[in-house]
Amino acid sequence: MTEALRVSGLSKVYGEGALAVHALADVDLSVAAGELVALLGPSGSGKSTLLFCISLILEPTAGKIAMFGEPIHGGGRTVVDVRRFRRENIGFVFQHQNLIPFLSARDNVAIVLELAGGRARAARHRALDLLEELGVGHRAHDLPANLSGGEQQRVAIARALANSPRLVLADEPTAALDTERGQVAMEMLRRISRERGAAVVTVTHDERMISGFDSVYRLHDGRLRSGA
Ligand SMILES: Nc1ncnc2c1ncn2[C@@H]1O[C@H](COP(=O)(O)OP(=O)(O)OP(=O)(O)O)[C@@H](O)[C@H]1O
Ligand SMILES: [Mg+2]
Repeated sequence: MTEALRVSGLSKVYGEGALAVHALADVDLSVAAGELVALLGPSGSGKSTLLFCISLILEPTAGKIAMFGEPIHGGGRTVVDVRRFRRENIGFVFQHQNLIPFLSARDNVAIVLELAGGRARAARHRALDLLEELGVGHRAHDLPANLSGGEQQRVAIARALANSPRLVLADEPTAALDTERGQVAMEMLRRISRERGAAVVTVTHDERMISGFDSVYRLHDGRLRSGA
């Protein structure tokens, strides 16, 4: 079993002094390549903070993160070129979609491939394939503002998967979707873990979804424990 992600003793404190918020406290987590992980927990328990730290968007206050055997954060040091590492290895579906407002749905997906060095034509082709797979191919030429919340969410999923990342982090990717479309989106995440061996960590509020996951973790007040 290849370990894709190892988080050890991770803590995150927002602010200082009397205003300090201890969002994560001493979190340990190991995820294997090909593993599909659910992360649950009440609002404010630290789920998004944990995903932001793992995705290298947010710097942890203490602790270590290693991916694919490479140390990333540790001993107060960031060891890799974070932006490049993220671009090449990590796909992120944000809780609040972060689509680029002046690009069409299709170009929001294609740009990820072009930034990674892909040719524009092939990128636009693959972008459309992904959008079609998620049932939003017909909105490919629309701007995000003209799409419904669920359509935007599916464009965001397509964008996160475009580069075939080895690690996918998804923050409530199905929250704005009805049951059927939510299942299509979950099925895509499952497939990328099964077929491509990607490690996938998905935040969900939906207890009905958790049976399809390989492992389930829960956060409470910034502390992580395993188990359904
Ligand atoms: N930028 C910030 N500055 C200060 N406190 C923050 C910041 N971001 C989050 N927090 C606090 O950290 C804690 C964890 O927040 P986080 O967003 O990780 O929760 P969550 O589990 O994702 O919640 P939800 O289910 O509502 O999305 C909360 O108490 C929140 O108020
Ligand atoms: Mg959140």
